[in-house]
Amino acid sequence: MKKVVLAYSGGLDTSCLIRWYKDKGYDVIAYLADVGQGSDFNVVRKRALATGASKVYILDLKEEFVKDYVFPAIKANAVYEGKYFLATALSRPLIAKHQVWVARKEKATTLSHGCTGKGNDQVRLEVTAKILAPDLELQAPLRTWEFKTRDQEIEYAHKHKIPIDVTKKSPYSTDINLYGRSIECGILEDPWVEPPEEIYKMTKDPLKCPNKPEYVEVEYAKGIPVKVNGKAYKPVDLIIKLNEIGGRNGVGRVDMVENRLVGIKSREIYENPAGTILITSHKELEAMVLDRETLHYKELISPKYAELTYYGLWETPQKQQLDAYINKTQERVSGVVRLKLLKGSCNVVGRKSKFSRYKEELATYGAKDIFDPKLSEGFIRIWGMPY
Ligand code: ARG
Repeated sequence: MKKVVLAYSGGLDTSCLIRWYKDKGYDVIAYLADVGQGSDFNVVRKRALATGASKVYILDLKEEFVKDYVFPAIKANAVYEGKYFLATALSRPLIAKHQVWVARKEKATTLSHGCTGKGNDQVRLEVTAKILAPDLELQAPLRTWEFKTRDQEIEYAHKHKIPIDVTKKSPYSTDINLYGRSIECGILEDPWVEPPEEIYKMTKDPLKCPNKPEYVEVEYAKGIPVKVNGKAYKPVDLIIKLNEIGGRNGVGRVDMVENRLVGIKSREIYENPAGTILITSHKELEAMVLDRETLHYKELISPKYAELTYYGLWETPQKQQLDAYINKTQERVSGVVRLKLLKGSCNVVGRKSKFSRYKEELATYGAKDIFDPKLSEGFIRIWGMPY
């Protein structure tokens, strides 16, 4: 009997997949990664077993997600096409890595997932798995199976008594984890239509947020956020805390048209309260502690890092080389940034660091000035000389 490890969510597609594999004579192991999506895992476990999985793995990957995926992305200031904080994209290589682990443990031969043939997630899961375990067979039945519509799947589920939640049917396709939420499909497919308020779950409507600004201070140690408002938090708790603070002030909503890997443009909505606060403050601290050339060079690398993440190339040599460079730049990125949140806006209003390169006695136009302006004359002559 062939054994398949299926990345299972508890939704309609992957529930049908369990049964579909059983019918084809497979032993199905359902695997679910907890990256902070907040599902009721007891319900999901029962559902997988009731549908025909022989075993269910539910792995708590929240800490690994934040430490090894989200924090490196923050150090890199990784934002795809200037807008997407990559919450979904960052989770996929982690999910694939542990799917391979489950397959090894279970001596399975096949990995499977419920992604469609149009999206980026299929690429990220499969490329990662292929790099980590080239011998495993990869399958994605949704790309080719017999069901053409959701209704056909629901009919199949009813026929086989697969427990599903059709009442909760939403017109949107969403993905959520600790770092953010992605929303697509339905009326959002018309890029001219303003997203209705009902699609948002992590962020409050800015119009209904407090009229008074909320200040928040984020402290970094070597590029990693460690404290919020002076209090130390573990990585997962820190993200949860900042999601709360940002969310209640409507911070982190993004509406964009993005370029997918498979060559199409798609309209996507994102919520990233913690990500917005973190990348805004991290960049600001870097502005204060990094020398000019490092800062400018690193700014060139950020889009590349975001692209590698988006493209599913997390486990590649280039990504590791960039990490090595970026980590080196973070040695002095320690200090505190103060932000002011108000009705969806998130602005830096203060920063301090013991590694600051800002020297008031050089910058000032006041009496404490020690800068020698006479030197500028020669500097300008030589600087402009080649031209
Ligand atoms: N467009 C985003 C990305 O490629 C979000 C994908 C959301 N996934 C989903 N299954 N709804 O990362």
